[in-house]
Amino acid sequence: MRVLGIETSCDETAVAVICEHQGLLAHHLYSQSALHSEYGGVVPELASRDHIRKLGPLIQTAMRAARLSLREDIDAVAYTSGPGLMGALMVGAGLGRTLAFALDKPAVAVHHMEAHLLAPLLEDAAPDCPYVALLVSGGHTLLVEVRSVARYAVLGESIDDAVGEAFDKVALMLGLGYPGGPQIQRLARQGDPERFVFPRPMVNRAGLDFSFSGLKTHVLNTLKGLAKPDHQARADVARAFEDAVVDTLRIKSTRAIEHTGAKTLVVAGGVGANQKLRQQLMQRLGEQGVKVIFPAPEFCTDNAAMVAQLGLLRLQSGSREPLQIRVQPRWALEEI
Ligand code: KG4
Ligand code: ZN
Repeated sequence: MRVLGIETSCDETAVAVICEHQGLLAHHLYSQSALHSEYGGVVPELASRDHIRKLGPLIQTAMRAARLSLREDIDAVAYTSGPGLMGALMVGAGLGRTLAFALDKPAVAVHHMEAHLLAPLLEDAAPDCPYVALLVSGGHTLLVEVRSVARYAVLGESIDDAVGEAFDKVALMLGLGYPGGPQIQRLARQGDPERFVFPRPMVNRAGLDFSFSGLKTHVLNTLKGLAKPDHQARADVARAFEDAVVDTLRIKSTRAIEHTGAKTLVVAGGVGANQKLRQQLMQRLGEQGVKVIFPAPEFCTDNAAMVAQLGLLRLQSGSREPLQIRVQPRWALEEI
């Protein structure tokens, strides 16, 4: 069986084809980040308009590159139906469902976060279940126990800003562009770790939830207190912010591992690209005998390979979507 996967939940238009025997046959992505950069974050209406321009041609490009024919070689269409931006989701779901109808093939609507959770299974060295997944992106901060496919337990999540969103907003405060994470990482390298020490939110409270809005306010107040911060002061603030975030994620991930008894931590989402986070998790959890896995960046950030993979798993277990086009901008993992 070959499944066409479509992802348009946020600011990446992505298309992939997966084969149950041969694995990934096509994997294409168009990122809108340049379009949104001047606004400092994703503008939902612009995202929808760009998906509608790019998705059709991207499907065509993917099929040509893989020398596949939609009519002859595709057995089903999987698309992200939530959670995400309503308009953006509607583009992928609308086109995906309609394409399946036109081809007279089954369609399957998949959950974006579930697709992220299972993305590590796309790799040759796939982790064994159970594992704990730390999902850290512009839209989500989640710790989830993956017991097996379709058996998940949400251990903790952000009660306010997602961690990537906090990176992006703090980057704006520091006069940096979007996406903010990589730019903060770069600036923080020049920062003095001793000059400021920011709070590690919620680490002294029981449980595995996160909160980043207070830390963001702390950065804002520190910058206000500096009147006209020079380059070094901004680097020092970036360093203190990055250290606080990395420490917080490390402390909660360690707690999640201890709580579940899992032996593997998988880190996914754009913030998983952060060098300090990688190094800290590898070192500190590694010392405790925990295997820390960072899937390839192309599978960590938004992509359609994970959507095609989850679609294939769902189809194999008999799932089929009715003709109605379904999008769920808010969709808890527990509701799957
Ligand atoms: O998973 P992703 O590509 O897209 C979604 O949000 O779905 O994640 C993007 C987020 C942005 O907020 C970006 O600032 C952050 O990941 N990010 C980073 C780094 N690279 C990307 N945050 C911290 N350090 C990085 N090196
Ligand atoms: Zn995502």
